[in-house]
Amino acid sequence: MDLLRAKVLSNEEIMPSTHVLALASPELGRTAAPGQFVHIRSGPTWDPLLRRPMSIYKIRPDGVSIMVRAIGAGSTMIAASVPGGWLDCLGPLGTPFELGPDSRRLLMVGGGYGVAPLVALAELALPRDCEVVLLVGAASAQYVFPSALLPTDVEYEVATVDGTLGHHGLVTELAARYLEWSDAIYACGPTPMLRAVALAARPLARAGGGAVPSTKRVELAMEQDMGCAMGVCLACVVKTRRGLQRVCRDGPVFRAEELVWESSA
Ligand SMILES: Cc1cc2nc3c(=O)[nH]c(=O)nc-3n(C[C@H](O)[C@H](O)[C@H](O)COP(=O)(O)OP(=O)(O)OC[C@H]3O[C@@H](n4cnc5c(N)ncnc54)[C@H](O)[C@@H]3O)c2cc1C
Ligand code: FES
Repeated sequence: MDLLRAKVLSNEEIMPSTHVLALASPELGRTAAPGQFVHIRSGPTWDPLLRRPMSIYKIRPDGVSIMVRAIGAGSTMIAASVPGGWLDCLGPLGTPFELGPDSRRLLMVGGGYGVAPLVALAELALPRDCEVVLLVGAASAQYVFPSALLPTDVEYEVATVDGTLGHHGLVTELAARYLEWSDAIYACGPTPMLRAVALAARPLARAGGGAVPSTKRVELAMEQDMGCAMGVCLACVVKTRRGLQRVCRDGPVFRAEELVWESSA
């Protein structure tokens, strides 16, 4: 993890309010892994005071790309970065996704901008002979991640809440039909979506009678509000079977069976 200045190479709006920024940083390109994030200063002044976390979306030898959805002051400033400008980044931070040696059929579930780290993971997995099914949920068609930006070998399905594209409903409803097929599941998105994925996958983790849990890998990347992202302020803690854990340092990627959901028994 390092504090570094990354030059903005390009800025492309790929969906309304959603920009892909290519950053030049051989250091990030060399060390970043899918699931990790960079903590970025929004601008030159102290307002907003806190950095904003953005997932690693693409990894190249000369740097990384991030996908920024402008939803508030900080993300709007980062999304407006002009090519040739610089971003003050801390990273790469957090735990990455893990590809198990025996995992070949990967189910990925993304909600909103949660698709970003899954694209990086798919690009890592495909050359390793993995099959990838990517399911993405969005509010409406205009916010659906463009299929043209995915590697061609990814099988891609979408769900929209308003029914304007793909399945009319929640992305987790699409996931049901791939749960048995997959031997590893990766998800990133809002907490209710992650909870639904974890609960849907739970019976599979017990397949085989319950006494010997299956080794199916289910990994969830949490999008918790953050402060320091250095493990100090405890703004980002979540409940786990090992007690409170910091999403910024102990995550953002957690094994699903580790997490304790508020309303779950
Ligand atoms: C590990 C991690 C990876 C992330 N990756 C990406 C990414 O790849 N692309 C991307 O666009 N965004 C990503 N985010 C979310 C992004 O950091 C927030 O959208 C951003 O910090 C909001 O800052 P803001 O100043 O624009 O909005 P604010 O004015 O701070 O917030 C606007 C609204 O969004 C809510 N909000 C703010 N941050 C979060 C959050 N982290 N989770 C849920 N609600 C929030 C606030 O409560 C408020 O209602 C990630 C977050 C985390 C923790
Ligand atoms: S954001 Fe400060 S401990 Fe995680």
